[in-house]
Amino acid sequence: MFDGVEAAPPVKVFQLTADFKACTGPNKVNLGVGAYQTNEGKPYVLKVVKEAEQRISKDFTLTHEYLPIDGLAAFTDASTAVMFGKESPLVVNRKYIAVQCLGGTGALRLCSEFMFQCLKRSVAYVSKPTWPNHNAILKTAGITDVRSYRYWDPNTKSVDFQGMVEDLKGVPEYAVIFLHAVAHNPTGMDLSTEQWQEILDILIKRNATIVMDTAYQGFASGDLDKDAASVRMLADKGVEFFVCQSMSKNFGLYNERVGNMIAVIHNADKVEAVRSQLKRIVRANWSNPPSHGALVVATILNDETLAQQWRLELMEMAGRIKDMRQLLYEKLQVHQITWPHVINQTGMFSFTGLNPAQVKFLRDEYDVFLMEDGRVNMCAFTTSNAQYIADAIAAAVNKA
Ligand SMILES: Cc1ncc(COP(=O)(O)O)c(C=O)c1O
Repeated sequence: MFDGVEAAPPVKVFQLTADFKACTGPNKVNLGVGAYQTNEGKPYVLKVVKEAEQRISKDFTLTHEYLPIDGLAAFTDASTAVMFGKESPLVVNRKYIAVQCLGGTGALRLCSEFMFQCLKRSVAYVSKPTWPNHNAILKTAGITDVRSYRYWDPNTKSVDFQGMVEDLKGVPEYAVIFLHAVAHNPTGMDLSTEQWQEILDILIKRNATIVMDTAYQGFASGDLDKDAASVRMLADKGVEFFVCQSMSKNFGLYNERVGNMIAVIHNADKVEAVRSQLKRIVRANWSNPPSHGALVVATILNDETLAQQWRLELMEMAGRIKDMRQLLYEKLQVHQITWPHVINQTGMFSFTGLNPAQVKFLRDEYDVFLMEDGRVNMCAFTTSNAQYIADAIAAAVNKA
């Protein structure tokens, strides 16, 4: 039965972790996978998450009955309020449909299937570069014509805004456009407020189907409201669009698969039709979502004290990342290497500009593992390993 099956290519970031684990070097560092770590290089369970889990464990009214197909309303509503702000007219007047999904990935998949099946969308654009799963999700959902718009200029190590504008002005009407709402993965470079205004106006003029992918709210500035600015700007323009929200990073709930798919809808007559189609798609995928992670998030967001504690912890995490950016910048300067992009970039990642030969050199000579495109997870830096990594990068830059 299986004779004709060819192996699929490995997922690069997970292959990198496997290679890292197999390495026996005493100074080995994994700068690959996008997960927060402490200054001790350990995974971090947020204190507020532990607190919520304790409360949940003591609640004997909870059962393991199936959740509704579209998930826990206490979770989807509270998460949507975090995205748009509690006072936003969109939230107050319920101009949205929200569906609990399996992480941001599940939200993107549900959204893509809906756009293909119910909106008959057939062409999509993703940024170049982007999180590689964007391509795979769109194609698996049926939108096989996936194109890209320019985003990164390797020479300036910054956004190629001119190129982006040119490309987006030329997209066919109704094309699906994936935008990274904040802390662009992998480049760590976001648009300015003025640039967002310009891009969104161009897309609205093209009648584009906009999908805001937001996996790092709170990780760029440390402030949830600031990091929601692009999504809120689009909401203020009064158009209909999608938001795919991941709680994996900002709640540190990576393996609980917590996400929220929001369809902003102004046509009241169509709310039930859209909701029923979304539920139909969920039913054939995961039928109904898991409870634990969503319950943790709902417990935190629906309690003033816990919600405030969460905001503070997020601020601390974002602060540590910023400190690590500064530290790397300073340690590279000692080697006469000036990398302003490391401090100008934002969020979890830095797009270093290291080329594949330098990446290979770092791995072969220093047991420093990073993605082939030069992306590093800044959370993997600590005050103990930053010197070693900076020395290794300097050697790579000078020798490879
Ligand atoms: C840009 C982007 N979107 C979506 C996701 C999905 O996150 P998850 O499915 O882990 O919640 C990620 C995760 O790395 C991401 O980087």
